[in-house]
Amino acid sequence: MNVKTVRVVRAVRPAEAKDEICVIKKKSKGELVVVDHPLIKHKITLLRNKNTRVNVFRDLVEEVSTLIGFEATYDFPLYEVEVETPVAKTCGFKLEGKKVAIVPILRAGVSMVNGLLRLVPLAKIGHIGIYRNPDTFEPVEYFCKLPASISKRSVLLCDPMLATGGSAAAAIDMIKKRGAKDIKFLCIIAAPEGVKMLHESHPEVKIYTAALDERLNDHAYIVPGLGDAGDRIYGTL
Ligand code: PRP
Ligand code: URA
Repeated sequence: MNVKTVRVVRAVRPAEAKDEICVIKKKSKGELVVVDHPLIKHKITLLRNKNTRVNVFRDLVEEVSTLIGFEATYDFPLYEVEVETPVAKTCGFKLEGKKVAIVPILRAGVSMVNGLLRLVPLAKIGHIGIYRNPDTFEPVEYFCKLPASISKRSVLLCDPMLATGGSAAAAIDMIKKRGAKDIKFLCIIAAPEGVKMLHESHPEVKIYTAALDERLNDHAYIVPGLGDAGDRIYGTL
């Protein structure tokens, strides 16, 4: 379906990425939102820089997560209320208080949680443990603990990297199996291969990303990407 770039016109991208975006547009049914904004572009550039130190890297992931989360909560329902300012009565709005679950994919996804909690402080937190087999790149599941009544919650599943899409697709399978119906996937950098995979396996899950990169390399790392997100966040390089 459609690749939607929010707010600002996308910067000129390398030819390969443009081709991939066309393929995604033509072939897939799902929706991808690239949250494109000068602040995000600036912060993503700092994240990509291999010399960015671990403390700065963590702060930036948190900040970008808030900015992506801002867009991903755009459709939260409101109801009208009357409010009295020091000058006059007027009509205002309150959030209907949709129940939210933030679900990070371990390990790297945890770094996005605080940034999202700034927007929805009362959200419950679930955890999904998945790592990628380094040889096959297949996802390996090892943990799942979700908040009660997950079927009634709006789930914000988060992981900074969408590479092959295997981990995100497996996480969505796990959440759906436990009853969740309303799921959005939030990441910081996506590869076209991962977007395509997720759109094919879970077309109703809207993807929000801060950047859509060119491709994967032979080790299934995102190019240009930012390297291994978990290692950079936890200093385990
Ligand atoms: C990274 C990343 C995603 C996954 C993306 O995690 O945080 O979970 O890889 O790759 P995929 O789209 O090809 O599945 P990793 O497997 O390195 O585990 P970690 O967070 O425990 O380091
Ligand atoms: N996981 C990461 O952390 N980075 C990549 O580029 C791909 C998978």
